[in-house]
Order: sequence, then structure tokens, then C-alpha cells
Amino acid sequence: MSAPTDEGDAQSLERVPSALSTREAWLDPFDWYAEMREDHPVRYDDHRECWDVFRYDDVDRILDDPETFSSDPRLASTIDLPPEDEQSPIMETMLLTDGDRHDRLRGVVEDWFRPRAIAGRAARFEEIAADLLDDAVEGGRMDVIDDFAYPFPVIVIAELLGVPSEDRPQFRRWSETLVETPTDTSEAATEAYQERQQEASEELAEYFEEKLDARAREPRDDLITVIAEAASEDRLTHEEALGFCMLLLVAGNITTTNLIGNAMRCLTAHPTALERVRDGSVSIESAVEEVLRYRSPVQALARIATEPVELRGTEIEAGDVVVPWLGAANRDGDVFADPGEFRIDRAPNPHFGFGRGTHYCLGAPLARMEARIGLNALFERAADIERRGETLQPVRSAFIYGVEEFPIEFRPRRDAASPSS
Ligand code: HEM
Repeated sequence: MSAPTDEGDAQSLERVPSALSTREAWLDPFDWYAEMREDHPVRYDDHRECWDVFRYDDVDRILDDPETFSSDPRLASTIDLPPEDEQSPIMETMLLTDGDRHDRLRGVVEDWFRPRAIAGRAARFEEIAADLLDDAVEGGRMDVIDDFAYPFPVIVIAELLGVPSEDRPQFRRWSETLVETPTDTSEAATEAYQERQQEASEELAEYFEEKLDARAREPRDDLITVIAEAASEDRLTHEEALGFCMLLLVAGNITTTNLIGNAMRCLTAHPTALERVRDGSVSIESAVEEVLRYRSPVQALARIATEPVELRGTEIEAGDVVVPWLGAANRDGDVFADPGEFRIDRAPNPHFGFGRGTHYCLGAPLARMEARIGLNALFERAADIERRGETLQPVRSAFIYGVEEFPIEFRPRRDAASPSS
């Protein structure tokens, strides 16, 4: 998807609604969402050629009905995809399929991501967080994103997959290219962009191809082994196995980075809330749920209508792209009292931060645990945390929501950093 720019130039509007095309608007899109929920809850955007849907009930209905609202982009009448033999293995993943095939793919790793299985790895994740933070907190200043929120989930998923976390500069380059959003829509720029995407996808596929072969010969206790075994038993095709590895590497990184970054953005803006989390009067888990609602790392999804369907009196045709706005539904006053208030003890909190229905985020238990462990580790080492700097830069994507950098200053708590210090 294309990214917002400072100017809001015409080219940048290709995929982001024009109202959100400036830096300021994409940092805080919530007033616009409120207007849309009220006046245009289901609207067609001619420029992006899709329907936008803003109210909680409607988003719920779309995500709960995958037969009518499919995740398969191949069904869209307005999306140009490369020919099948040039498509990335990502197209062969659970995220972009429905029905029995989706369930078969998801079933391969589902047990691995269950809360109880993930909980068994907490001690290792705490060690990773400690390693990153012990260095980062030394001088009383750090960038939450670069020093911690980015490397932490990458190292975690690299370990779960069973790939060396030292390869992470490469993962970052591949992931960023794959989610990159062209701002220049001229023919030459589009061609160059497609080539870069194709190249990154091929390199990543080649990287995992080797790893899958190695695990087929020599199994270990990691996810690549699980995927290689499923492929050798014909439960996955070769392309599906490759796509699987790529999806797991990419899906959990940028999102979890932004959950941790957005949590710090919310908590430093609400010092009383931060204090209540620190002194234990409200659980970190409850605060993280409110961040997922209030500043959702994924603001929007995409579905394709498989048949003509009516939504709030509007006719949607088969093949139309429908965009359910999670970030807008999460601020719907019909479901959440005082939706514009950041309330860390909100209960119940039925937000859509991880989606809903059959595609509900597979990594939700992992992401929740990473956020809890990561934030706790930071609070143990840093007191009096304050945000530094005035200007925030939004992440350059029209569906992922967060900031590029988040500098903070604080008083290092050497006493609490580790039991031995
Ligand atoms: C804060 C962090 C995260 C957020 C906000 C998030 C959000 C989401 C959302 C909204 C969906 C639904 C997509 C749809 O319905 O089209 C989803 C699906 C998915 N997520 Fe996450 N995610 C996060 C972390 C992770 C992690 C850590 C992993 C795993 C390593 C992961 C793996 C997946 C997968 C595989 C799917 C596809 C599930 C399916 O199609 O059945 N996510 N995620």
C-alpha cells in the first residue's frame, strides 16, 4: 500500500484515503474515523477502488463471514497480480486463502502458537530482552524502536523458526522491501519497484529453501522442522512450505515492533497510567489490550466480496475490495464507553487489534507475551521515562500503524536491572 507523505501529493493517494495522506493525519486518524462512522459508515473510494467500512458491527460482520468476504486477492476485479508462475510464495499462505485450504495450512503450526506452548519459552524471551536492554539503558537515553522494539521480536521469531538471529539485517531489508509502498507511480518507478519486490521475494525464498532442506535431513526443535516435516508428508506443497516460513518471519515483526512502540507512545502521554502499571495497581496485560484498541498496530485489513452483498443499504458487487477499518471500529462509541479515552483498566475490551474470526492472529499469544515481557523489562531498568523530541514520523504503510522512531530519556535503575547488580 502507498504511504502518506508530508505534502499529501496526488500519487500518495493511490492506496491511502486522501484524508489520511498527511503525516499529521496518519499519526492521529481518529477524528476522521469518527466523522466516517457517523456520516459515511460504508463508502466507496474511487481513487483506491475499494469500499471502506468503519463501524464495529459492520467490521464484525465482514470478518465473521469469510464465505462472502474472502481473503484471497485473486478474486478481486480491481487488483492486478503478476502471472501465477511469477507470484511470491506469500500468495500460497493461510493469510490469503480461505476454507479447507486455510484450515489445513493453519493446522500445521497451530499447536506451536498456543498460549501454553508459548508460555514455556518465557524465560528465554526474558533473557533476550535483558540482553538488548542492559546495553541500551546505560546512558539514560534510547530509541524505543531501534534499540528494542525492532530487534526484540525479530530475534524471538528467528529463534522459534530456527534461523540465526545474526541474519537480521538481511531480514529487515527483505521485510521492508516486501511491505514497501511506492510513492512514485510512474511506469518506470512501478517497474523498478516490482523488480525489487520480486528480487527480495526470490532471495527470501532461496534463503528458506536451504533451511528447509537442512531440516529435512537433520530435524531440530524448531518451526522450520515442523514445516519441513509437513512438506515431506505431502501436507504442504513446496511453495506453501516456503510461503509459510516467509509469512511467519514477516507477519510478527513489524506488528509487534509497533505494539511496543505504540504502548510507549500511549504510556508516556498518560503519566498516571504509566505509574499505575509500574506500581502494579493495573496489570501490564490489561494496559497492552488497551493499546491494541486505542492505537492498533494494524489499522485496516482487506477482503474481497465473493457475491453481490448489501451492507448498510449499499450494494457491493462480487470482486469488489472491501476494507474493514479495525482502528475505526476500535473507537466505536456504541461498543466502547468514552472511546477516545485511554483507559488501561478497560473491561471488557473486545477490540479487533488481532482481527476476528478464522484469520484471527495466529501469533496473538506470542505478541501479547512479547509485549508484557518487553515492557516489564524496560520498566525494571528505567524510571521517570519521558518522551524526547517533538516530531513523530508515521510508519510508511497504509495499514500498519506506528512511528519510525520514539526517543525517550529516563533514570537508569541499575539496582533493578538484574538480581546480581
Ligand atoms: C502486535 C502484534 C500483532 C498484531 C497487531 C497482529 C495482527 C494481526 C491481524 C489483525 C491479523 C488478521 C489478518 C486478517 O484477518 O486478514 C493477523 C493474522 C496473522 N498473524 Fe498476526 N499480529 C501480530 C503478531 C503476530 C505474530 C508475532 C505472528 C507470528 C509469528 C503473527 C502471525 C500471524 C499469522 C500467521 C496470521 C494469519 C492467520 C490466518 O490467516 O489464519 N502475528 N495478525
